[in-house]
Amino acid sequence: MNILENDIERILVPEEEVASIEDSMAKQISEDYADKNLLLLCILKGSVVFFSDLMRKITLPMQIDFMKVTSYGKGSTSTGNVRILLDLHREDFSHVDVLIVEDIIDSGRTLSTLVEYLKMKGCRSVRTCTLLDKPARREVEFTPDYVGRIIPDEFVVGFGLDYAEKYRELPYVGILKPEVYKKKESLD
Ligand code: IMP
Ligand code: MG
Repeated sequence: MNILENDIERILVPEEEVASIEDSMAKQISEDYADKNLLLLCILKGSVVFFSDLMRKITLPMQIDFMKVTSYGKGSTSTGNVRILLDLHREDFSHVDVLIVEDIIDSGRTLSTLVEYLKMKGCRSVRTCTLLDKPARREVEFTPDYVGRIIPDEFVVGFGLDYAEKYRELPYVGILKPEVYKKKESLD
């Protein structure tokens, strides 16, 4: 057992459930993008596990690419100022149908900013899919096109998601014990 598991209050989405979410999402995407030119876009780092599963489960030719964005302020809440750390570089985006793959939507700022940004670059279409969604925390109106699972307002880690760069390797989505981040925040 990974020693980090001591910090998990309980498992919210077990490994098998994530796998079945991915199966049905990949099937839907494969139908919806059959006549399109899919560019599957991974938002680093949190989406990397979900992304690598999805790209193998979608039964269509595709290109893949990566962007890295950050919202200022680390810790258990995101702050809303989105900054691009790794960008997409193409001569021409006009034949590309981008599907952004995100781990979780919280305030909605990251994805609403990215969608606008990619449309501005001239992508033919821009849609979004997310493994998890916390609609209770929305600060800007945003509805993803594909949602794996709606979750309550809890801070979760695992399956790519981190707290202070830890827990990404856990094979499920778990709720972090609040004392883990409360302890840290009181020191900050
Ligand atoms: P948004 O811009 O507020 O929607 O933030 C989305 C980003 O915040 C995600 O890509 C995560 O990096 C981070 N985030 C939000 N909620 C959680 C959580 O419960 N656990 C880990 N990261 C989270
Ligand atoms: Mg993220």
